[in-house]
Amino acid sequence: MEAKSPKESRTTLTDLVLPSETNPLNNLFGGELLARMDRAASIAARRHSRRIVVTASVNHVAFNKAVPLGSVVTVEAAVSRAFKSSMEIFIDVWVEDRESGNRTKANEAIYTFVAVDETGAPVNVPPLAPETDLEKERYAAALRRKQLSLVLAGKMAPKDATELKALFEQ
Ligand SMILES: CC(C)(COP(=O)(O)OP(=O)(O)OC[C@H]1O[C@@H](n2cnc3c(N)ncnc32)[C@H](O)[C@@H]1OP(=O)(O)O)[C@@H](O)C(=O)NCCC(=O)NCCS
Repeated sequence: MEAKSPKESRTTLTDLVLPSETNPLNNLFGGELLARMDRAASIAARRHSRRIVVTASVNHVAFNKAVPLGSVVTVEAAVSRAFKSSMEIFIDVWVEDRESGNRTKANEAIYTFVAVDETGAPVNVPPLAPETDLEKERYAAALRRKQLSLVLAGKMAPKDATELKALFEQ
């Protein structure tokens, strides 16, 4: 299969924060943001693979900044690395200042999606060819994140997580 670039899967979802989506402090409810990120990541995974995709794991979420009621929130997702049937999706969340229009990074997350056939069995996806420095950095770190996720899920023995172990042996 021919390699694809991250920009071929890049997905941007922009939406408001409405009162029904906030917590008692009038900030965006965490579960609502997780759902928005899952939707954007799912579209990115589908654009990369052109297959049915399912969320296999939420590897990392950082709620760094609260997102107030009425904010314009942009969720940007793109495939950061493709393995055999799985794809790591990196998600950046931006909040737009009402007056200046400037965007501030509020949160980020990393999800894993798996491409499957109609019976739910994993199928192979095209490789990813990163282009920019940031895309190359995210690509390089994705293997150890995959190993960490598999170890935590009990699907890989820690002794086999060579890339992850190398991080602690530097
Ligand atoms: C995701 C799913 C297809 C994986 O099935 P599986 O039987 O574990 O299949 P495999 O062991 O062959 O794994 C398939 C791929 O997923 C990856 N994977 C599985 N679990 C993972 C995890 N927790 N973290 C990261 N990658 C994972 C494997 O490493 C493998 O990747 P590769 O093919 O690129 O090497 C299956 O668990 C599933 O259908 N889960 C439900 C998905 C769903 O409904 N999501 C919505 C939640 S409501």
